[in-house]
Amino acid sequence: MKVTEKIDDMKRLRQPLTEPVGLVPTMGYLHEGHLALVRRAREENISVVVSIFVNPTQFGPREDFNRYPRDPQRDLTLLEKERTDIVFMPSPAEMYPAQFNSWVEIGKVTERLEGASRPGHLRGVATICAKLFNIIQPTKAYFGQKDAQQLVVIKKMVADLNMNLEIVTVPTVREPDGLAMSSRNTYLNPEQRRAAIVLYQALSLAQKLWSQGERDAAKLRQQMTDLICKQPLANIDYISIANAETLDELDRVNTPALVSLAVRISNTRLIDNVVL
Ligand code: PAJ
Repeated sequence: MKVTEKIDDMKRLRQPLTEPVGLVPTMGYLHEGHLALVRRAREENISVVVSIFVNPTQFGPREDFNRYPRDPQRDLTLLEKERTDIVFMPSPAEMYPAQFNSWVEIGKVTERLEGASRPGHLRGVATICAKLFNIIQPTKAYFGQKDAQQLVVIKKMVADLNMNLEIVTVPTVREPDGLAMSSRNTYLNPEQRRAAIVLYQALSLAQKLWSQGERDAAKLRQQMTDLICKQPLANIDYISIANAETLDELDRVNTPALVSLAVRISNTRLIDNVVL
């Protein structure tokens, strides 16, 4: 496994790789969710590149960029076991030199949900992914359903800007009790960790009511809200039932619908979703 921090090196190492080349972009502190993406990339490609970069431009000024968990040595050990060919782990200065001043703005699908709660977040995500796609030139890039809006945005960018790669969606990997795996779960103390299952409970409730025939989105949102409000450590940021492609909020739930939510457990903001 080759490891590089430099863009020029990465481009040079890319040249001799046998196609197809699978890319898994990450911010590191890898867990089974990330590894599911790497394994899928390993299955579907001859060459696998993983990037590890805690991207400063997707964090707001009052967000957790500085305290975001990092453990590059452990990440490299895990990636070696998954037979990764190249790990690209640049510094912020390498990706954003002082004169950097170009941004990828995706339109309407970034205005709601995460976009509304975290201004600039999805612009930062689109920009870094465009840079990674240009540097690494993958045949396919792998993203988790856990970050559903991120996937919608990346797919839209690739389509609108005619980028030459395929985006592959990988299902959300969960802990045994249903909590979606996330690097941010490490912020939770044991009491908060127990409270955090409320996200999955609310999504499961929506799924159950929907399978019993409920199609009124307002009723589904209300039932989810009532359930979460019973958890004293939980504060709802948003609960959404939206068209899975346009992210327009729905009145009637016609499949495919994305049920997504962002909830604060004490200070830790968690997101999750299911598709109906
Ligand atoms: P990060 O949060 O490290 O996630 C990297 C990839 O792993 C994303 O595609 C994310 O959706 C996926 N992932 C995270 N948890 C998952 C889970 N429990 N199950 C399945 N997939 C999961 O998302 C980012 O980094 C960044 O925004 C990035 C795309 C790297 C751009 O900076």
